Amino acid sequence: MRFDVLTLFPEMIESHCSYSILKRAIEAGVIEVGTVNPRDFTHDRHRKVDDTPYGGGAGMVLMPQPYVDAYESVKKLENSITIMLSPQGEQLSEKVVKELAEFDQIICLCGHYEGFDERIREIIKPREISLGDFVLTGGELPALCVIDAVSRKLEGTLGKIESAEDDSFSDGLLEYPQYTKPREYRGLKVPEVLLNGNHKDINAFRQEQRILRTKLRRPDLLENKDI
Ligand SMILES: C[S@@+](CC[C@H](N)C(=O)[O-])C[C@H]1O[C@@H](n2cnc3c(N)ncnc32)[C@H](O)[C@@H]1O
Repeated sequence: MRFDVLTLFPEMIESHCSYSILKRAIEAGVIEVGTVNPRDFTHDRHRKVDDTPYGGGAGMVLMPQPYVDAYESVKKLENSITIMLSPQGEQLSEKVVKELAEFDQIICLCGHYEGFDERIREIIKPREISLGDFVLTGGELPALCVIDAVSRKLEGTLGKIESAEDDSFSDGLLEYPQYTKPREYRGLKVPEVLLNGNHKDINAFRQEQRILRTKLRRPDLLENKDI
C-alpha cells in the first residue's frame, strides 16, 4: 500500500511514521509513505499557499493552484483513491478503514488554516473523511489516523504479538477486558478464570465480557446483531 500525503507540514507525517509499528511496516515494504508539499508548487517569491477569503471573514483559505498542481504531480497507481481530510466528510469507522485497505494507493489531502478553496474539491473530487464532529487545526493528524488504521489491516504490519483478531470492532463488538502481571494490584485481582489455563472457559468468559461491554458502552453496535 502506498500513501501519498499532500501537506504543508511533511515533517509531521514523516516523524510519526518513523516509530514503532509503522516504521517496521515501512522497513518490511508493507507500506510506503510519501509526502508532497503544495508550497513547492507556488510560483511567487513568498511561496504563498493561502489568502484571505472572498466575502470577508476570519482566517486564511488554501489557494487552489498549489494544491491542484501538487496533486497532479503525484504518480497515480491504477487502484488508487484520493481522500480529503475534512470535518465535513463521512466519519472514519472500521467499515471505511476496511474499504480504504482494498486500494493500492491512498492520496491524502491535508488542509490547514480555514481549509480548502472550494474549487480544490470540485476539481479533485476526493472522498471526504472526518475524524469526528470537532475541528482540528490541520489534516495531518486525521491523515495519520487513516494511515495507521489502514496499515493495521494489511498483512505483515502486525506481528502475532499485536494481532488485531480480537480488537474492538473486528466483528462488531468491543474487546474484552485485558490483564497482565501481576495477579493482584492494589487489591484488584485478575479474574480467576484467566489463570486456570482452560481455554474453553477463557473464551467463554471473554465472549461474555465482549457482549456485556458492548451492551453497556455501545448498544448501537448491537442493533443489527443476533445476540
Ligand atoms: C481548521 S480546519 C478547517 C475547518 C473548516 N473551516 C470548517 O469549518 O469546515 C483545517 C483543516 O483541518 C482538517 N480537519 C479539521 N478538523 C477535522 C476533522 N474533524 N476531521 C478531518 N480533518 C479535519 C481539515 O483538513 C481542514 O481543512
